[in-house]
Amino acid sequence: MSKDSIASILTERIIVALDYATAEEAQGLVRSLEGIPCYMKVGMQLFYSAGPRFVEQLKEKGYNVFLDLKMHDIPNTVKGGAESITRLGVDMFNVHAAGGVRMMEAAREGVDKALASSAAGSAGAVRPLLIAVTQLTSTSQSVLNEEIGIVGTVEEAVLRYAQLAKQAGLDGVVASPLEVPALKGALGSSFVTVTPGIRPAGADIGDQSRVMTPQEAFAQGTDYIVIGRPITAAADPRAALEGIIASLQG
Ligand code: C5P
Repeated sequence: MSKDSIASILTERIIVALDYATAEEAQGLVRSLEGIPCYMKVGMQLFYSAGPRFVEQLKEKGYNVFLDLKMHDIPNTVKGGAESITRLGVDMFNVHAAGGVRMMEAAREGVDKALASSAAGSAGAVRPLLIAVTQLTSTSQSVLNEEIGIVGTVEEAVLRYAQLAKQAGLDGVVASPLEVPALKGALGSSFVTVTPGIRPAGADIGDQSRVMTPQEAFAQGTDYIVIGRPITAAADPRAALEGIIASLQG
């Protein structure tokens, strides 16, 4: 396969984090990236202000959408949330693995219920990838052990959560790119990894601590990379994303 076609496949695996306060600001970024077939991520800041309509507009423009709301509640409530999210037509969404196996299974049931009713008549919904948040990358070793009271290393906690997610029938996890080889080794290469903490060579690290370049992260075997500020805070976001895509051709 040529370098160009590898880069074009990987472009669809670059998830741009639309971390904005309003629909107007996010629309400005989307306009500037028009024509580039990247994935778009709507997180809680934008969703709580712009709502489902913004997600529908991204879908109307043909984007794959990751709705990053990190649900964590009792199983019945998560099932209902997953049903509503699936009806919105997103391509990926997530729940916290800390909610336990039963809660994650309930999320799957919500997806199944929405798809069963859409097959019965309404809009042609697709099965979204259902991803678990393991241990947030902002959790340090001392916070994990002393504050939250979980024993062991962060890596052990991540692997345990990922195993629970697989047991519950989820498709994969959000993790640091550094954890990808261990996750793929323990859970199989088809268990999806979605990795934030990505910084192009020379970019500002910001509040992320353990980072990798896009090229390094894909070389680790990750399936999707999430990139926010290196694109959204750039003087020319389109040039920033094009530079990242070009770096994948090297
Ligand atoms: O701006 P930056 O590239 O650091 O953005 C990373 C994105 O990935 C943000 O939207 C953040 O919420 C998300 N994320 C993360 N770490 C996690 C889970 C999600 O940085 N463990």
